[in-house]
Amino acid sequence: MTFPNERPRRTRQSEVWRRMVRETHLVPDQLIYPLFVVPGRGVRRPVESMPGISQLSVDAVVEEAKGAHAAGVPAVLLFAAPAQKDARASAARDPHGLAAQAIGSIKEACPELLVWADVCLCGATDHGHCGHVLSGGTIDNDSSIQTLAEVALNYARAGADAVAPSDMMDGRVQAIRALLDREGHATTPIVAYAAKYASCFYGPFREAAESAPAFGDRRSYQMDPANAREALREVLLDVEEGADLVMVKPAGPYLDVIREVRAAVRVPVVAYQVSGEFSLIKAASQRGWIDERAAVLETLTGIRRAGADLIISYFAPEVVRWLRA
Ligand code: PBG
Repeated sequence: MTFPNERPRRTRQSEVWRRMVRETHLVPDQLIYPLFVVPGRGVRRPVESMPGISQLSVDAVVEEAKGAHAAGVPAVLLFAAPAQKDARASAARDPHGLAAQAIGSIKEACPELLVWADVCLCGATDHGHCGHVLSGGTIDNDSSIQTLAEVALNYARAGADAVAPSDMMDGRVQAIRALLDREGHATTPIVAYAAKYASCFYGPFREAAESAPAFGDRRSYQMDPANAREALREVLLDVEEGADLVMVKPAGPYLDVIREVRAAVRVPVVAYQVSGEFSLIKAASQRGWIDERAAVLETLTGIRRAGADLIISYFAPEVVRWLRA
């Protein structure tokens, strides 16, 4: 049966019809808002390449978290850029370090807001790589995952509601799970950056998190953008090692990967609309070349339609306000 019997426009003829047959919904509970904490007091330093996003001192990050919570955002993802950077990522393992302080302060001010803590070494190391660097410049896997587990334990002790390893070392989910369990944090979930690609779209973030590698690049640990089967391998390994949620990152250029991952696992799938995806929309809308709100809603709906259950986005508080208006 085809035209004139088939007329798909029949269920598109009014807003009520369109709402009723809509297949994908974007709701506030699906959105996570990233925050960048830096040393100091009263600091709100705008990130030039990310209009509307700032580096925040602990007091300011608490205010920003409160605002997001009041708007209806259920969770934040915390990144720290401590002043002290060394080979052992000491600041990230310090119970009084910047990240631990921020986690504790946000939870105290806003107990119902979930705080996901990004677990990585790049923001706290002098070389800016996500693992330990050996002489000669290679990134050592097995010593790195021990340090990452210590960082995760530090954040769990500080009160993080989830730890989110973003380093892409092999076996780090297992190492983190084992240490958390041994130290009395069996109920802290792990959000694994499972399929994280070596992407140019992290450029603006590296300004915000002060985490650009001092030499080389991340291609020996992050994934080749050309590979999709390998993403499934990574995701299935992380689930086996104990990941409670798995992430695909970036989101927009990897919708096929999100779709395949959604079909392959039973845990929730998170997609990260990264800094570069944010900045592209901001830059074009500031020039009047694109309608910001429409572009944001269309990209987020596309990411949901591909299969993401949850989305990390710098637009989260704004979107939640639009959705509730
Ligand atoms: C750190 C980390 C990065 C992002 C999240 N965690 C940057 C990187 O891997 O270089 C990117 C987030 C974004 O671009 O918004 N490992």
